[in-house]
Amino acid sequence: MIRRSSRGGTAALWSGLSLCAVTLTGLVASTSPEPATQEVAAPENVSAATMTNEPYCPPGTEPVSEAERRVADPDAGPSDSAEVTPEQAAEYQDRLRRAMDRVRDHEAAAPYTVPVVMHVISASDGSGEISDARIDDQVDVLNRAYRGEYAQGSEGTDTEFRFELADVTRTENDTWFRDFGEQRDEIRAELRQGGPETLNIYTADLGSGLLGFSTFPQDYADDPDQDGVAIAHDTLPGGDREKFNEGHTGTHEVGHWLGLFHTFQNGCESPGDYVDDTPYEREAASGCPEGRDTCPEREGEDPVTNFMNYSDDACMTHFTKGQADRMAEHWAAFREGAPQA
Ligand code: ARG
Ligand code: ZN
Ligand code: CA
Repeated sequence: MIRRSSRGGTAALWSGLSLCAVTLTGLVASTSPEPATQEVAAPENVSAATMTNEPYCPPGTEPVSEAERRVADPDAGPSDSAEVTPEQAAEYQDRLRRAMDRVRDHEAAAPYTVPVVMHVISASDGSGEISDARIDDQVDVLNRAYRGEYAQGSEGTDTEFRFELADVTRTENDTWFRDFGEQRDEIRAELRQGGPETLNIYTADLGSGLLGFSTFPQDYADDPDQDGVAIAHDTLPGGDREKFNEGHTGTHEVGHWLGLFHTFQNGCESPGDYVDDTPYEREAASGCPEGRDTCPEREGEDPVTNFMNYSDDACMTHFTKGQADRMAEHWAAFREGAPQA
């Protein structure tokens, strides 16, 4: 199931979810005494491509865009929300500002070197196994992406984040592999290494077309064991996940782990994604709809090729300077530069 347990209370980001509203003719969501939306898990056999471009919805339900969902269910709490609500985003921002006040005088210095521990979880039939070479390739993709090497022309920037593989753990466990969502608290409590500066990446079958999810830096203090990123095993470079096998699910989730929201956070409404140089965007992009402009009242076309969108891997090219600064702030406030407790 895609619903989070309420334990921990953190707003981890779930990606690639299929959200479907029950189609009830004649019922207006806002006047209904019952919530008019519900989350429905898509069946296993739906391909990632189908999931991403046209969410599967069971008969009697229809897809809900993130924007619609926010409107329909603005108070969805962290326990049942796939996306970060405007209120949650504001709360995370508030915690960033307060933490920044505490670290003002001892900011971390660039380049920011992030130790990476990869936890490969696989099944007894060999599904989910990932070679050392592909793990190295994933770390290379992170380094190239964060260095700005995929950027075209003048867009993008070197974020000055660098990633160094520190360890790889391999666990063969059918239940863990197939049921990561249910088992994840236990899996992470058992496997996680290092302090707030260590990036723990878990690979498994995340089920239901899910590509990845992450915790935010602000979550670390309350739940250090659970800090980290999970990505579907077939999204690593050379994997079988069509359109999402170049390693940028890793790039994207690590962006959350370093404090970034989606470019479409808050839609066309201020303060958007809390980054000044990413244009506003009403909702997630899929495929590669370059040139679209979903907030015509706002300056700039949609940031379709930004790593923090939902476009195909081949479409994603860069982080902006503003995003780089935001990540460096979170790094100083909650990870490498955080005052030791
Ligand atoms: N939908 C996902 C998320 O929110 C991941 C998107 C990754 N996109 C990609 N092209 N790999 O976290
Ligand atoms: Zn995301
Ligand atoms: Ca912005």
